Amino acid sequence: MADLDDIRDGDNFGLNTPADTSAFYLKGMRNASWGIKNRMSRIFNKDSGRTVMLAFDHGFLMGPTSGLERIDLNIAPLAEEADCLMGCRGMIRSSIPAENSKPICLRTDTGTTILTEMNHNVLISEEDAIRLNVSCMAAMLSVGDADTEATTIANFSRLVDIGQKYDIPVMGVTAVGKDMARDSRYFGLASRVCAENGASIVKTYYTEGFENVVAACPVPIVIAGGKKLPELDALDLCYKAINCGASGVDMGRNVFQSAKPLAMMKAVKGVVHDGLTPAEGFQMFNDL
Ligand code: 5RP
Repeated sequence: MADLDDIRDGDNFGLNTPADTSAFYLKGMRNASWGIKNRMSRIFNKDSGRTVMLAFDHGFLMGPTSGLERIDLNIAPLAEEADCLMGCRGMIRSSIPAENSKPICLRTDTGTTILTEMNHNVLISEEDAIRLNVSCMAAMLSVGDADTEATTIANFSRLVDIGQKYDIPVMGVTAVGKDMARDSRYFGLASRVCAENGASIVKTYYTEGFENVVAACPVPIVIAGGKKLPELDALDLCYKAINCGASGVDMGRNVFQSAKPLAMMKAVKGVVHDGLTPAEGFQMFNDL
């Protein structure tokens, strides 16, 4: 029992400083729980409100694709520069040191490598996500694809239920339906469907008219980089997305397939967090 003989009355109640009731700094999160907000604030930088996530979840589908042959050699050394690491559980356990202090966004739906069936993936158990101490769980939502939409929405809803139960944000990864045009109409639909189904973050692709995609999505959007581009073009993609209101990137191939992945990470961060133009970012890339 605590000592009772020297109880001091409080006298520092800050009576002239009202409690902070301002909204949380991230879009759409005002009414989220403390746990969701806390995890979101591990992922999104509090000064810029943005994030540079490093995606290396490709292997479950593509195998040891270029740049991901050895996660321990190619990805782990980049972790210090990333705001968040996005990968699958096997690679995180085997190849990312447990001392890692960067938040993890766990790709929770993996499965067949057969491209046409990629979206019939299965969700891992919530126990395993918790064991990995994840800050976010990601799953794909295949909107507009008659064969896979229902399965992925069911998967996704289950994941959001799990996320709500344990206060873990869920990131919806928009897949491109095989008959859908890769335009702002499609990505606007897919992003909105993710948000409507409870995503706290949406990952999609930059396209012309992206400002409408961002405006109609009530939670932060991050963009995938897509296939490898020349570095200046990839930085231009980041810049345009940020200018349209994106909250960052979840980029893979344009970082780990670069001739200088660490320099590319730093240049992307310059554009996303520090307002560098693509040319300034490219200069930084070249100088490093
Ligand atoms: C699927 C994905 C990928 O798994 C990956 O994370 C994409 O990263 P990038 O396109 O930047 O290589 O999101 O849509």
